[in-house]
Amino acid sequence: MADWIPIARATECLPGQSIERVAGDRIVALANVGGTFHAIDGLCPHQGGPLGTGGLCGAVLTCPWHGWQFDVATGRHQSSANVRQDVFEVRERDGTVEVRVTAISGSSTAEA
Ligand code: FES
Repeated sequence: MADWIPIARATECLPGQSIERVAGDRIVALANVGGTFHAIDGLCPHQGGPLGTGGLCGAVLTCPWHGWQFDVATGRHQSSANVRQDVFEVRERDGTVEVRVTAISGSSTAEA
């Protein structure tokens, strides 16, 4: 089982925000939805945009390059059931956010 990897201080990603981090060999989009952290694959499947630097509205993260939108809780693309980002386990311990970069769901490369 993959180890937990610290990626941020909890204060670096406040409610309503998302940030981009590297964990192992993965880019992670970390989002804070009302005080609950979610972590998904941060590499947009469209053309590789940095999802973590996109805008977060509720649980929906919008890619800053061309606007593809993903639910950060499920990794699902908002308008195509065939596109789903990997979702990673995330936890907060002593003010540090940690992820496991073994996907718990997701992965696709289909066109939206
Ligand atoms: S690279 Fe993300 S929408 Fe195009």
